Amino acid sequence: MTTLTTTITEVLRYRGKIGQWSWVLHRLAGLGTLLFLVIHVIDTSWVAFFPELYEEAIAIYQTPLFTIGEFALVACVVFHAFNGLRIAIFDYRPEWWRHQARAAQIVYLATFVVLVPVFALMAQHVVEFYTGRPLDLQLGLVFNRVVVPFGGHVVEFYTGRPLDLQLGLVFNRVVVPFGGGMILALLAGVLLSGLFGAVSGRAGLAGPLLTRRSRLEQVLWGFMRVSGMLILPLAFGHLAIMHVIQGVFSINQGGTGLAASFVAARWAYLGWRIYDAALLALALIHGFNGLRIVFNDYAHHPTVRRGLTWAAVVGCAALIIVGALALISGVPGM
Ligand code: HEM
Ligand code: HEM
Repeated sequence: MTTLTTTITEVLRYRGKIGQWSWVLHRLAGLGTLLFLVIHVIDTSWVAFFPELYEEAIAIYQTPLFTIGEFALVACVVFHAFNGLRIAIFDYRPEWWRHQARAAQIVYLATFVVLVPVFALMAQHVVEFYTGRPLDLQLGLVFNRVVVPFGGHVVEFYTGRPLDLQLGLVFNRVVVPFGGGMILALLAGVLLSGLFGAVSGRAGLAGPLLTRRSRLEQVLWGFMRVSGMLILPLAFGHLAIMHVIQGVFSINQGGTGLAASFVAARWAYLGWRIYDAALLALALIHGFNGLRIVFNDYAHHPTVRRGLTWAAVVGCAALIIVGALALISGVPGM
């Protein structure tokens, strides 16, 4: 709490430019997501150990206050992810450093562009839950009937020829396979460069700046970047399922079903358990190491610092064990 207060008061006093705001928002969004994740791993483990309590936890997730928090959480994850991506890319490209301010603006724009349709889709679930009637914003229709024809008219005006974009075909034949390949290539590249950094001690091109730090510190520096890029698709996928595709209210079918069966249906597939396990380990280690970095910035006394570092290590390990045990045990009787 003191950490958060100090960060807010200091940034208000300092009145920095866009980079300063990005730094503080990145920190607050990361800490906010970590706070949620700690609670979330504990309550998810109840599905295996205390199923009745799990039903109550999911019911609490559906209260109005939590619904507001849910929108804030999604905003935190999206901004932190895009900004983290900017940090990681620029650390490996010092020749781009003079474009930092422009890149920070692009991060805000990308966050806005992603959040507008995502919030609209999330709002559909909320309205449906409270009114009992589905709200269909017909976003697909709006896109097909307004955006595509408008684009077609513009092209026809300038080229004199009608344009048939065949978007569905392009999407299926090109975007899906190509996008999948790109993601795989990106993940492999990032993983390999992270491993290279860890083995050679050259943590990216910004590595030389770190020469006075310990080897472990360099490995962790590289890990923050590599893990961030791996968490990005995992966390976005998880949030897309929980907030957009199925929605928080469908976990217990709007209060008429069992939340445990929702989890059991997913955990029936080994693939989903592995997915959750990867997210569990990566997000917790990344988040708690981030917390340790924040502690180091504010705690100057060596004993206090060491105590807080150990608290972060033990807290992280305990939560990984609790989460992993739940994933291994599964939902009792289902
Ligand atoms: C309000 C937002 C969220 C909801 C409603 C939600 C819902 C769920 C549910 C129902 C599960 C049970 C397993 C499953 O069905 O896959 C689960 C597991 C999990 N979620 Fe979330 N999730 C949310 C946000 C997040 C975020 C932001 C993260 C990480 C950044 C996250 C990380 C995880 C992890 C690691 C597990 C596995 C936990 C374990 O092994 O005990 N979730 N989540
Ligand atoms: C979704 C993809 C994510 C990406 C791309 C990402 C990226 C990053 C990067 C690159 C840093 C290091 C910043 C630096 O050294 O200056 C960082 C810090 C941090 N991250 Fe993430 N991260 C992601 C998800 C998460 C999640 C899920 C959590 C919470 C569990 C989290 C919590 C933190 C914290 C607490 C920090 C330390 C903040 C600070 O030093 O000010 N991050 N992140």
